[in-house]
Amino acid sequence: MLESKRKVCVTGASGFLASWLVKRLLLSGYYVVGTVRDPENEKKLGHLWRLEGARERLKLVKADLKEEGSFDKAIFGCHGVFHTASPVLKPASDPKEEILGPAVEGTLNVLRSCKKNPCLKRVVLTSSSSTVRVRDDFDPDVPLDESSWASIQLCERLQIWYALSKTLAEKAAWEFCNKNEIDLVTILPSFVIGPSLPPDLCSTASDVLGLLKGETEKFQWHGRMGYVHIDDVAACHMFVYEHKSANGRYLCSSTVVDNDELASLLSTKYPSLPIPKRFEQLNRPYYEFNTSKLKSAGFEFKFKTIEEIFEDCISSLVDQGYLPSF
Ligand SMILES: NC(=O)c1ccc[n+]([C@@H]2O[C@H](COP(=O)([O-])OP(=O)(O)OC[C@H]3O[C@@H](n4cnc5c(N)ncnc54)[C@H](OP(=O)(O)O)[C@@H]3O)[C@@H](O)[C@H]2O)c1
Repeated sequence: MLESKRKVCVTGASGFLASWLVKRLLLSGYYVVGTVRDPENEKKLGHLWRLEGARERLKLVKADLKEEGSFDKAIFGCHGVFHTASPVLKPASDPKEEILGPAVEGTLNVLRSCKKNPCLKRVVLTSSSSTVRVRDDFDPDVPLDESSWASIQLCERLQIWYALSKTLAEKAAWEFCNKNEIDLVTILPSFVIGPSLPPDLCSTASDVLGLLKGETEKFQWHGRMGYVHIDDVAACHMFVYEHKSANGRYLCSSTVVDNDELASLLSTKYPSLPIPKRFEQLNRPYYEFNTSKLKSAGFEFKFKTIEEIFEDCISSLVDQGYLPSF
């Protein structure tokens, strides 16, 4: 029986970001109920069972965003819920079925389970900086902050399904939580970089690997991007959970750079990697992120520069055999 006082649920526990969050929560003494789609999949879950404290304080429960009520069991009795599960893939044929439905309906599904849980204190939802950034009507001289929302019309017109899914899901979450008096805090990470605890790389980590191997194709569309280290993102989730006064949305991003600048910084530090020197100019708007809300609440980013953010990611790609040693 898990002790309920410091018991929290992490949805999508085996994912890239969630695995780091589970690691941090266990190290801090929490009892963690993680939801996964296939609790029998040892290859996908072995890294979670090897985390310090996992044998004593981790429980994995089956749940799918597409199944109504399937999070009830995992969430019941938890004080906190970290909802990270959401499709991050680029849809193959049907964006509604593959990404929009699971993200939006799945989030409401999780929140309905939260509503049934009398112990619930706070829900922390992993949103995305794309919910702030994908718009074309802002002043480039004014850094974007949490008051900005992506344009649904622009996301639809440019078929940026991921940003659309995260924007609609976060908006739906705010509406549901306001109506049902659920304490919700959302985290809006930019592009998350760091060593992957799961053995298979998630889609963003595969894009990074492509860049380091000299491909421009997959990385090209990112254009100008904010970057943040995975450990800072995990720490930020715990920070807003544990700080009573935390409220609303929090942008979580260390630095914003253009593709060209990113490539130049990384090629200088790793001259033997075939990182592309130049990218096609995509005519994307210039922007910066204003993360003062998070910093003035007392959160400090541990990894600040591109070099710091990428360092252990690149080492772990070498260790895992994805990149040749250099
Ligand atoms: N990586 C980034 O740069 C970044 C930036 C900003 C925000 N985020 C957000 O961070 C969260 C985690 O993303 P990630 O980068 O860690 O990617 P990831 O490794 O692919 O994790 C996504 C998780 O969602 C789960 N999931 C997907 N569809 C599901 C469904 N129908 N039912 C239940 N679970 C489902 C996956 O479960 P399976 O393992 O079973 O597939 C996986 O655990 C997402 O909300 C994402 O939008 C990521």
